[in-house]
Amino acid sequence: MKKFRDLEKQLSVNGYCIISFDNKREINKLSRMIENKISSLLKIKNFKLSKYHKYVDDEKHQNIQWEIANFFWKNKLHHKAIFGAIDFLKYIFGGDILIQKKPFLRIARPQEKKDNIGFHKDTLYGQSPYELSIHVPMVSLDKKSCLKFVPRSFLLDEKKINFIKNKANIHKRGSKKHKLGFPYNPKSIDIKNKKLDNFPFKFGEAIIFTPALIHGQEINKSNNITRFSFDTRITGLHSPINHDEKSFNGNYDIYSEGPVESLARRYLQKNK
Ligand SMILES: [Fe+2]
Repeated sequence: MKKFRDLEKQLSVNGYCIISFDNKREINKLSRMIENKISSLLKIKNFKLSKYHKYVDDEKHQNIQWEIANFFWKNKLHHKAIFGAIDFLKYIFGGDILIQKKPFLRIARPQEKKDNIGFHKDTLYGQSPYELSIHVPMVSLDKKSCLKFVPRSFLLDEKKINFIKNKANIHKRGSKKHKLGFPYNPKSIDIKNKKLDNFPFKFGEAIIFTPALIHGQEINKSNNITRFSFDTRITGLHSPINHDEKSFNGNYDIYSEGPVESLARRYLQKNK
């Protein structure tokens, strides 16, 4: 319980906390599964996710990212993959938790600017501050390849934020790229003079953060690690979110149902 209180404090103070999955079996299974899938698509043996950039050109990359994202969504792979964090999620949300139906699969190859969406706040793209995101690397990352976060930036007045032009990475609304998490109207934040936290991620670690926090990556500066990760949104069943207004990536599935919710739901089904 002390561990959870410490994580909760980090989250409340900085807007993010780093968790280490209790059990790394599921995230390990996920990485191997994606590795095998790409290995068969590329028809190469001994393929490693972190070395993905060595085997693809832009066209192959786009096709593979779309194929793997659909495989991910269809099989709800994120449900099991973040199971190592379920106890902490229940601690902060209670037992009734929703999980994003179509999470974002991110692939940032070394030195490829177009694989990244720059620094941003998800609240500027319509996410509710009652949601949290979990960013889960599927490979170990060093300080050059990991995402970066501006601590306490959820406290900034969004009207006073400086933006930079990002014409290079604009995609059509509703396009495959948009569905893969590239905005149609990018709002890239100027992070000059901002403190950036970045940390190497050991495999099996993840970061939980508020969508109001400035985060992102402009370019994966590593020369030899592809950042392979997914991020999924989580919220409480009773959070004040209008689910009817959500589209494609904004929809949710039930992830966990506590005993009171279960009793009430089954009672109400019989007594409509
Ligand atoms: Fe984001």
